[in-house]
Amino acid sequence: MTSSATKPRGARARAAIAAKTLRTDRWWIAPLITVIGLSAWIAYATVRVFMHKWYWVEQYHYLTPFYSPCVTDRCIPEASHFGQYLPGWWIIPDAAFTLPFLLLFRLTCYYYRKAYYRSFWLSPPACAVPDGHASYSGETRFPLIVQNSHRYFFYFAAIISLINTWDAIAAFRSPEGFGFGLGNLILLGNVIMLWAYTISCHSCRHIIGGRLKHFSKHPVRYRLWGYVSWLNVRHMQLAWITLGTLALTDFYVMSVAAGWISDLRFIN
Ligand code: FES
Repeated sequence: MTSSATKPRGARARAAIAAKTLRTDRWWIAPLITVIGLSAWIAYATVRVFMHKWYWVEQYHYLTPFYSPCVTDRCIPEASHFGQYLPGWWIIPDAAFTLPFLLLFRLTCYYYRKAYYRSFWLSPPACAVPDGHASYSGETRFPLIVQNSHRYFFYFAAIISLINTWDAIAAFRSPEGFGFGLGNLILLGNVIMLWAYTISCHSCRHIIGGRLKHFSKHPVRYRLWGYVSWLNVRHMQLAWITLGTLALTDFYVMSVAAGWISDLRFIN
């Protein structure tokens, strides 16, 4: 018996149905929400990255992740935990060493690929809905072949998560010495979510548990692989949650730095 999955190349790709799709549900809602959500986040992040202010709360040492590490000579010296190496030109983001890698990490992420292929490129917009393009070459040619380098960006993302962790720990400060406020909870929550997203990466799962013939001979890796796999099935949710925690953390730091609100302090 010949099924559509085993049809020879060149055979008719689609049954002769006049309708564009037979789906009657509101399949377009998911891609629409994705377009709105990603566009809003990109617009917010772009404005913030090139604002060059309100990224550091001197009193409590809060640094927004959008400016970490702050490496231009325009940065407030106390906010430059790892030194200043670049000129403070307007066009250069203050976190110029990390933002491009974070962008590439997310851009090549398996989940985000699915999200923007479907929503922005309509390729295809949903299951059982025709592709918005006449041809399909997959990820076999430039530029999409670059998607295969995702595993390398994972290592950069892990290093950047370490830097964000350092920022969160260094923020337990107040003019009296040790201090702890709502800003610390927000920074900490963001870092935990960033780690969860980073570790749930498909490349991480492969690094932990891939290329093994027998899990029984690698019990530690098997156990770690189980944890990573548990997170991995939640990768899509973590991708969205971290966009939210990043924006929330940045907005909170900006609000306190600009003097719009005061940080709620629990200790000092
Ligand atoms: S970060 Fe999404 S698959 Fe790696």
